Amino acid sequence: MRTIHTLKELRAVLQGYRQQEKRIGLVPTMGNLHEGHLALVGYARQAADVVVTSIFVNPMQFGANEDLDSYPRTLQEDQDKLQAAGNTLIFAPAPDDVYPDGLANQTQVVVPDVSDGYCGASRPGHFEGVATVVTMLFNMIQPDLAVFGEKDFQQLAVIRKLTRDLFIPVEIIGAPTVRDDDGLAKSSRNGYLSSDERSRAPVIHQTLQRTAEALMEGATDYAELEQQALAALTRAGLRPDYFNIANSLTLKPARAEDTQLTILAAAFLGTTRLIDNVSIQR
Ligand code: PAJ
Repeated sequence: MRTIHTLKELRAVLQGYRQQEKRIGLVPTMGNLHEGHLALVGYARQAADVVVTSIFVNPMQFGANEDLDSYPRTLQEDQDKLQAAGNTLIFAPAPDDVYPDGLANQTQVVVPDVSDGYCGASRPGHFEGVATVVTMLFNMIQPDLAVFGEKDFQQLAVIRKLTRDLFIPVEIIGAPTVRDDDGLAKSSRNGYLSSDERSRAPVIHQTLQRTAEALMEGATDYAELEQQALAALTRAGLRPDYFNIANSLTLKPARAEDTQLTILAAAFLGTTRLIDNVSIQR
Protein backbone atom coordinates (compact mmCIF):
# COMPACT_ATOMS: atom_id res chain seq x y z
CA MET A 1 0.00 0.00 0.00
CA ARG A 2 1.35 3.40 -0.98
CA THR A 3 0.85 6.78 0.65
CA ILE A 4 0.82 9.61 -1.88
CA HIS A 5 0.99 13.28 -0.95
CA THR A 6 0.82 15.07 -4.31
CA LEU A 7 -1.95 15.18 -6.89
CA LYS A 8 0.55 14.80 -9.73
CA GLU A 9 1.79 11.47 -8.39
CA LEU A 10 -1.73 10.28 -7.55
CA ARG A 11 -3.00 11.00 -11.06
CA ALA A 12 -0.07 9.12 -12.63
CA VAL A 13 -0.77 6.04 -10.50
CA LEU A 14 -4.54 6.19 -11.08
CA GLN A 15 -4.05 6.53 -14.84
CA GLY A 16 -2.27 3.17 -14.80
CA TYR A 17 -5.19 1.54 -12.99
CA ARG A 18 -7.68 3.13 -15.37
CA GLN A 19 -5.82 1.79 -18.39
CA GLN A 20 -6.27 -1.67 -16.86
CA GLU A 21 -10.01 -0.86 -16.57
CA LYS A 22 -9.94 -1.15 -12.78
CA ARG A 23 -12.88 0.27 -10.86
CA ILE A 24 -11.73 2.95 -8.43
CA GLY A 25 -13.43 3.42 -5.06
CA LEU A 26 -12.87 6.44 -2.81
CA VAL A 27 -13.24 6.67 0.97
CA PRO A 28 -12.84 10.30 2.06
CA THR A 29 -11.74 10.73 5.71
CA MET A 30 -10.04 13.15 8.05
CA GLY A 31 -7.86 10.34 9.46
CA ASN A 32 -7.56 9.10 13.05
CA LEU A 33 -9.21 6.00 11.70
CA HIS A 34 -11.48 3.72 13.71
CA GLU A 35 -13.62 0.69 12.86
CA GLY A 36 -16.30 2.91 11.32
CA HIS A 37 -13.85 4.21 8.72
CA LEU A 38 -12.41 0.74 8.13
CA ALA A 39 -15.91 -0.63 7.50
CA LEU A 40 -16.23 1.92 4.68
CA VAL A 41 -12.97 0.60 3.19
CA GLY A 42 -14.51 -2.89 3.36
CA TYR A 43 -17.58 -1.75 1.40
CA ALA A 44 -15.35 0.00 -1.15
CA ARG A 45 -13.31 -3.18 -1.59
CA GLN A 46 -16.45 -5.15 -2.35
CA ALA A 47 -17.52 -2.72 -5.07
CA ALA A 48 -14.17 -1.62 -6.55
CA ASP A 49 -10.81 -3.07 -7.59
CA VAL A 50 -8.72 -0.21 -6.23
CA VAL A 51 -9.53 1.63 -2.98
CA VAL A 52 -8.20 5.13 -2.39
CA THR A 53 -8.62 6.45 1.14
CA SER A 54 -8.05 10.17 1.43
CA ILE A 55 -6.82 11.58 4.72
CA PHE A 56 -7.19 15.33 4.95
CA VAL A 57 -8.23 17.41 7.97
CA ASN A 58 -10.16 19.92 5.91
CA PRO A 59 -9.73 23.41 7.42
CA MET A 60 -12.66 24.77 5.39
CA GLN A 61 -15.26 22.74 7.30
CA PHE A 62 -14.18 23.83 10.80
CA GLY A 63 -15.68 26.91 12.45
CA ALA A 64 -13.46 29.54 14.08
CA ASN A 65 -14.03 28.14 17.59
CA GLU A 66 -13.89 24.49 16.62
CA ASP A 67 -11.21 21.80 17.00
CA LEU A 68 -9.15 22.18 13.78
CA ASP A 69 -5.86 22.56 15.67
CA SER A 70 -6.51 19.79 18.19
CA TYR A 71 -8.07 17.34 15.69
CA PRO A 72 -5.99 14.13 16.04
CA ARG A 73 -3.49 13.55 13.23
CA THR A 74 -2.23 9.94 13.37
CA LEU A 75 -0.94 9.10 9.89
CA GLN A 76 1.41 6.27 10.97
CA GLU A 77 -1.32 4.37 12.85
CA ASP A 78 -3.79 5.08 10.05
CA GLN A 79 -1.39 3.58 7.51
CA ASP A 80 -1.07 0.38 9.55
CA LYS A 81 -4.85 0.04 9.89
CA LEU A 82 -5.47 0.69 6.19
CA GLN A 83 -2.78 -1.78 5.19
CA ALA A 84 -4.50 -4.45 7.32
CA ALA A 85 -7.91 -3.51 5.85
CA GLY A 86 -6.74 -4.12 2.27
CA ASN A 87 -6.73 -0.49 1.17
CA THR A 88 -4.75 0.22 -2.03
CA LEU A 89 -3.65 3.88 -1.84
CA ILE A 90 -3.69 6.66 0.73
CA PHE A 91 -3.97 10.20 -0.60
CA ALA A 92 -2.81 12.63 2.10
CA PRO A 93 -2.40 16.07 0.54
CA ALA A 94 -0.99 19.13 2.32
CA PRO A 95 -3.45 21.98 3.07
CA ASP A 96 -1.39 24.42 0.98
CA ASP A 97 -1.70 22.13 -2.04
CA VAL A 98 -5.46 21.78 -1.64
CA TYR A 99 -6.02 25.52 -1.03
CA PRO A 100 -3.09 27.26 -2.81
CA ASP A 101 -4.92 30.61 -2.92
CA GLY A 102 -5.99 30.38 0.73
CA LEU A 103 -9.42 29.61 2.14
CA ALA A 104 -10.76 33.12 1.66
CA ASN A 105 -10.20 32.92 -2.11
CA GLN A 106 -11.46 29.39 -2.59
CA THR A 107 -14.36 28.68 -4.96
CA GLN A 108 -17.11 27.10 -2.88
CA VAL A 109 -19.82 24.53 -3.45
CA VAL A 110 -23.06 25.54 -1.73
CA VAL A 111 -25.75 22.86 -1.41
CA PRO A 112 -29.05 24.56 -0.58
CA ASP A 113 -31.96 23.08 1.35
CA VAL A 114 -30.47 19.87 2.81
CA SER A 115 -27.61 21.90 4.34
CA ASP A 116 -30.16 23.93 6.31
CA GLY A 117 -31.02 23.04 9.88
CA TYR A 118 -29.48 20.50 12.27
CA CYS A 119 -25.66 20.59 11.94
CA GLY A 120 -25.95 23.21 9.20
CA ALA A 121 -27.65 25.59 11.63
CA SER A 122 -25.23 24.89 14.49
CA ARG A 123 -22.08 24.99 12.37
CA PRO A 124 -22.39 27.85 9.84
CA GLY A 125 -20.24 27.20 6.76
CA HIS A 126 -19.60 23.57 7.74
CA PHE A 127 -21.44 21.93 4.86
CA GLU A 128 -20.01 24.40 2.35
CA GLY A 129 -16.57 23.24 3.53
CA VAL A 130 -17.56 19.57 3.26
CA ALA A 131 -19.26 19.98 -0.14
CA THR A 132 -16.30 21.93 -1.53
CA VAL A 133 -13.61 19.48 -0.43
CA VAL A 134 -15.63 16.42 -1.48
CA THR A 135 -16.23 17.95 -4.93
CA MET A 136 -12.50 18.65 -5.18
CA LEU A 137 -11.66 15.06 -4.17
CA PHE A 138 -14.12 13.74 -6.77
CA ASN A 139 -12.42 15.86 -9.44
CA MET A 140 -8.90 14.98 -8.29
CA ILE A 141 -9.48 11.23 -8.08
CA GLN A 142 -12.43 10.72 -10.46
CA PRO A 143 -13.57 7.58 -8.64
CA ASP A 144 -16.26 5.27 -9.98
CA LEU A 145 -17.80 5.11 -6.50
CA ALA A 146 -17.37 6.71 -3.10
CA VAL A 147 -18.44 5.40 0.31
CA PHE A 148 -19.75 7.61 3.14
CA GLY A 149 -21.13 6.73 6.58
CA GLU A 150 -24.76 7.13 7.61
CA LYS A 151 -23.31 8.26 10.95
CA ASP A 152 -23.16 11.71 9.31
CA PHE A 153 -26.67 11.49 7.90
CA GLN A 154 -27.05 15.11 6.83
CA GLN A 155 -23.56 15.08 5.27
CA LEU A 156 -24.54 12.02 3.22
CA ALA A 157 -27.68 13.86 2.01
CA VAL A 158 -25.57 16.91 1.08
CA ILE A 159 -23.14 14.75 -0.90
CA ARG A 160 -25.91 12.84 -2.69
CA LYS A 161 -27.49 16.14 -3.73
CA LEU A 162 -24.31 17.82 -4.93
CA THR A 163 -23.41 14.73 -6.95
CA ARG A 164 -26.85 14.77 -8.60
CA ASP A 165 -27.04 18.54 -9.08
CA LEU A 166 -23.55 18.83 -10.59
CA PHE A 167 -23.86 15.64 -12.68
CA ILE A 168 -20.70 14.18 -11.15
CA PRO A 169 -20.32 10.64 -12.53
CA VAL A 170 -19.75 8.87 -9.21
CA GLU A 171 -21.92 6.32 -7.42
CA ILE A 172 -22.50 7.23 -3.77
CA ILE A 173 -22.72 4.32 -1.34
CA GLY A 174 -24.04 4.90 2.21
CA ALA A 175 -22.75 2.55 4.93
CA PRO A 176 -24.38 1.80 8.30
CA THR A 177 -23.03 3.27 11.54
CA VAL A 178 -20.48 1.21 13.46
CA ARG A 179 -20.95 1.40 17.24
CA ASP A 180 -19.18 0.44 20.44
CA ASP A 181 -20.82 -2.38 22.43
CA ASP A 182 -22.78 0.12 24.54
CA GLY A 183 -24.26 1.76 21.44
CA LEU A 184 -22.04 4.85 21.23
CA ALA A 185 -21.32 5.59 17.56
CA LYS A 186 -17.61 5.34 16.86
CA SER A 187 -16.11 8.76 16.25
CA SER A 188 -12.67 10.34 16.24
CA ARG A 189 -14.10 12.87 18.71
CA ASN A 190 -14.88 10.13 21.29
CA GLY A 191 -11.19 10.34 22.15
CA TYR A 192 -11.77 13.80 23.62
CA LEU A 193 -14.13 12.39 26.30
CA SER A 194 -13.05 12.02 29.94
CA SER A 195 -13.91 8.64 31.48
CA ASP A 196 -16.92 10.23 33.21
CA GLU A 197 -18.14 11.75 29.93
CA ARG A 198 -17.56 8.48 28.09
CA SER A 199 -19.76 6.66 30.64
CA ARG A 200 -22.62 9.12 29.97
CA ALA A 201 -22.27 9.25 26.17
CA PRO A 202 -24.36 6.11 25.35
CA VAL A 203 -27.47 7.99 26.48
CA ILE A 204 -27.53 9.63 23.03
CA HIS A 205 -28.08 6.31 21.26
CA GLN A 206 -30.38 5.05 24.03
CA THR A 207 -32.58 8.12 23.64
CA LEU A 208 -32.63 7.75 19.85
CA GLN A 209 -33.62 4.09 20.26
CA ARG A 210 -36.35 4.87 22.76
CA THR A 211 -37.79 7.50 20.40
CA ALA A 212 -37.56 5.07 17.47
CA GLU A 213 -39.55 2.51 19.47
CA ALA A 214 -42.26 5.05 20.25
CA LEU A 215 -42.45 5.96 16.55
CA MET A 216 -42.70 2.29 15.58
CA GLU A 217 -45.60 1.97 18.02
CA GLY A 218 -47.34 4.71 16.05
CA ALA A 219 -46.62 7.88 18.04
CA THR A 220 -47.06 11.00 15.91
CA ASP A 221 -46.73 13.78 18.48
CA TYR A 222 -43.21 14.49 17.31
CA ALA A 223 -42.82 17.73 19.28
CA GLU A 224 -43.65 15.89 22.51
CA LEU A 225 -41.17 13.08 21.73
CA GLU A 226 -38.47 15.64 20.92
CA GLN A 227 -39.08 17.50 24.19
CA GLN A 228 -38.91 14.25 26.20
CA ALA A 229 -35.65 13.32 24.48
CA LEU A 230 -34.06 16.73 25.08
CA ALA A 231 -35.05 16.45 28.77
CA ALA A 232 -33.57 12.93 29.02
CA LEU A 233 -30.25 14.12 27.54
CA THR A 234 -30.16 17.10 29.89
CA ARG A 235 -30.94 14.88 32.92
CA ALA A 236 -27.97 12.67 31.96
CA GLY A 237 -25.67 15.70 32.15
CA LEU A 238 -25.41 16.42 28.41
CA ARG A 239 -26.09 19.75 26.73
CA PRO A 240 -28.31 18.87 23.77
CA ASP A 241 -27.81 20.91 20.60
CA TYR A 242 -30.77 19.45 18.70
CA PHE A 243 -32.98 16.37 18.68
CA ASN A 244 -35.35 16.20 15.70
CA ILE A 245 -37.56 13.74 13.90
CA ALA A 246 -37.23 14.26 10.14
CA ASN A 247 -38.39 12.80 6.85
CA SER A 248 -35.43 10.57 5.85
CA LEU A 249 -35.48 11.66 2.21
CA THR A 250 -36.06 15.40 2.47
CA LEU A 251 -34.67 16.00 5.99
CA LYS A 252 -37.68 18.28 6.53
CA PRO A 253 -39.53 18.01 9.87
CA ALA A 254 -41.50 14.76 9.78
CA ARG A 255 -45.22 14.85 9.04
CA ALA A 256 -47.69 12.38 10.54
CA GLU A 257 -48.07 10.53 7.22
CA ASP A 258 -44.32 10.08 6.55
CA THR A 259 -43.19 6.45 6.55
CA GLN A 260 -39.39 6.83 6.41
CA LEU A 261 -38.19 8.72 9.44
CA THR A 262 -34.74 9.65 10.72
CA ILE A 263 -34.15 10.92 14.23
CA LEU A 264 -31.14 13.24 14.29
CA ALA A 265 -29.34 14.26 17.47
CA ALA A 266 -26.35 16.36 18.50
CA ALA A 267 -25.23 16.98 22.08
CA PHE A 268 -22.28 18.36 23.97
CA LEU A 269 -20.46 16.46 26.71
CA GLY A 270 -18.25 19.16 28.17
CA THR A 271 -16.72 20.76 25.09
CA THR A 272 -17.06 17.67 22.89
CA ARG A 273 -19.93 17.69 20.42
CA LEU A 274 -21.23 14.28 19.37
CA ILE A 275 -23.82 13.45 16.70
CA ASP A 276 -25.84 10.34 15.98
CA ASN A 277 -29.04 9.29 14.21
CA VAL A 278 -31.41 6.34 13.85
CA SER A 279 -33.69 5.66 10.87
CA ILE A 280 -36.93 3.69 10.87
CA GLN A 281 -39.50 2.66 8.33
CA ARG A 282 -43.12 2.19 9.39
P1 PAJ B 1 -14.58 11.75 9.05
O1 PAJ B 1 -15.29 12.28 10.23
O2 PAJ B 1 -13.16 11.29 9.19
O3 PAJ B 1 -15.45 10.56 8.49
C1 PAJ B 1 -15.08 9.93 7.28
C2 PAJ B 1 -16.20 8.99 6.88
O4 PAJ B 1 -16.38 8.00 7.89
C3 PAJ B 1 -17.56 9.72 6.74
O5 PAJ B 1 -18.25 9.22 5.60
C4 PAJ B 1 -18.26 9.32 8.03
O6 PAJ B 1 -19.68 9.33 7.92
C5 PAJ B 1 -17.74 7.91 8.23
N1 PAJ B 1 -17.88 7.47 9.63
C6 PAJ B 1 -17.47 8.13 10.74
N2 PAJ B 1 -17.81 7.44 11.85
C7 PAJ B 1 -18.47 6.33 11.43
C8 PAJ B 1 -19.09 5.22 12.09
N3 PAJ B 1 -19.11 5.12 13.41
N4 PAJ B 1 -19.68 4.28 11.32
C9 PAJ B 1 -19.68 4.37 9.96
N5 PAJ B 1 -19.10 5.39 9.28
C10 PAJ B 1 -18.51 6.35 10.00
O7 PAJ B 1 -16.82 12.97 7.50
C11 PAJ B 1 -15.70 13.42 7.33
O8 PAJ B 1 -14.57 12.84 7.86
C12 PAJ B 1 -15.43 14.65 6.48
O9 PAJ B 1 -16.51 15.53 6.58
C13 PAJ B 1 -15.15 14.33 4.99
C14 PAJ B 1 -16.35 13.64 4.31
C15 PAJ B 1 -13.89 13.43 4.87
C16 PAJ B 1 -14.87 15.65 4.23
O10 PAJ B 1 -13.80 16.32 4.79
